[in-house]
Amino acid sequence: MAVERTLSIVKPDATARNITGKVIAKLEEAGLRVIAQKRVRWSREQAEKFYEVHKERPFYGELVDFMTSGPIVVQVLEGEDAIAKNREVMGATNPEEAAPGTIRKEFAENIERNTAHGSDSAENAAIEIALNFSDDEIVG
Ligand code: CMP
Repeated sequence: MAVERTLSIVKPDATARNITGKVIAKLEEAGLRVIAQKRVRWSREQAEKFYEVHKERPFYGELVDFMTSGPIVVQVLEGEDAIAKNREVMGATNPEEAAPGTIRKEFAENIERNTAHGSDSAENAAIEIALNFSDDEIVG
């Protein structure tokens, strides 16, 4: 195992319900360290770029609508095996399939309004971090 960094997002369904702290607590309890964090509201262009890989999917337009519907909290998480660990703590994309105790099982409303995002590979983590943070915003 190696120390990795991953991009995490607390999504608009969570900021609307004022549960960002509860979501972040789950990440920290799993041993992940928040080394950069900011609350922002994405433009349509930012959301479209971030989710470009899903451009051809039928849910792309709605996903962009949702991710620009309110503030989000973007984070860089660091830790041993951080990419897989973050995905384990989040649980399956569809909350109906998520394991007990995971963020999505406890908090997600449905497959779209699913409370959290985490990078799915080291390559995408590097891309997603660079889209959201400058080097001097990652403070450790
Ligand atoms: P996320 O991990 O941010 O990556 C892509 C997002 O697309 C996903 O979480 C969900 O919010 C959304 N998504 C994935 N599959 C579907 C689907 N079948 N219907 C609606 N939204 C989806």
